[in-house]
Amino acid sequence: MNEIRIFSPATVANVSCGFDVLGFCLDTIGDEMVVRKTKEKGVSISKIIGSDLPYDIQKNVAGVSALALYDDAKPNFGFDIEIYKHIKPGSGIGSSAASASGSVFAINELLGRPYSKTQLTHFAMKGEAIASGSEHADNIAPTIFGGFTLIKNTSPIKVLQLPTPDELYAIIIHPQIEIKTSLARAILPNSIPLKDAITQWSNLGSLVHALHTNDYDLLGNSLEDVIIEPHRSELIPHFQMVKKEVLNNGALGCGISGSGPSIFSLCKGVKNAKQVKNAINNSYLKTEVSFEIHLSKINTEGIKIL
Ligand code: HSE
Repeated sequence: MNEIRIFSPATVANVSCGFDVLGFCLDTIGDEMVVRKTKEKGVSISKIIGSDLPYDIQKNVAGVSALALYDDAKPNFGFDIEIYKHIKPGSGIGSSAASASGSVFAINELLGRPYSKTQLTHFAMKGEAIASGSEHADNIAPTIFGGFTLIKNTSPIKVLQLPTPDELYAIIIHPQIEIKTSLARAILPNSIPLKDAITQWSNLGSLVHALHTNDYDLLGNSLEDVIIEPHRSELIPHFQMVKKEVLNNGALGCGISGSGPSIFSLCKGVKNAKQVKNAINNSYLKTEVSFEIHLSKINTEGIKIL
């Protein structure tokens, strides 16, 4: 195989109570990438459609992660990358992770799959780090593994795959403003009250239990973030209105997707998901902010070969 085309999905990191460790994978939103072998050694990017991102491989997250893998594999040929961006940078649904994971996934396939998913996560984190200033993997892991993932360690990286209840659907509303992850991290406090930490780890443990036991009510009750959301929600237009609308319409819960501005909601069943999507859509239409809205099943596969 000399060429591969892939779909690299968007993801929701944090999932309210799991800052920097928990994430899940979406199915209907993602980038496409084409990677082909070249005679010349090294990694290049020859096409970027849909976004104004750098072609310099040292400055592009897909390039940096690809180089990390390439320098380790040392093949006697090279790779060229084309990126078709559909996930807007700064949207909070893992735009940089999709690029960083997509390039290493595709190159690994073209090399005959010498690396494990865990190793790919390690390489992709190098790319993610230049976008956000820190090597977190809560978007990368669900892109590569699919479903819900929990980051047990980042150094060395250890990813736990969690079960995905069958009837779970996500709605993503993306107000059309950009929030840089580095800024959304800079506004967070350095220390937190013990009582908030207790609430948060109780919620995270309960959410993991809910995924294992298909307990949708517990899952919904665990979608609470007393540490990060109070700070970051201030940056997101009409966050409280969306939250109210979502809960009034019977969703399991909602929160900030990654570092925002996107807001995710989780629903049991596609019927309720459509109702919640319509409710958010109708109330957001009354505001001055333009937005995109998506409904997606949880993607349990991660990156797909097209
Ligand atoms: N866990 C990260 C954050 C995800 O919330 O800052 C964004 O990349």
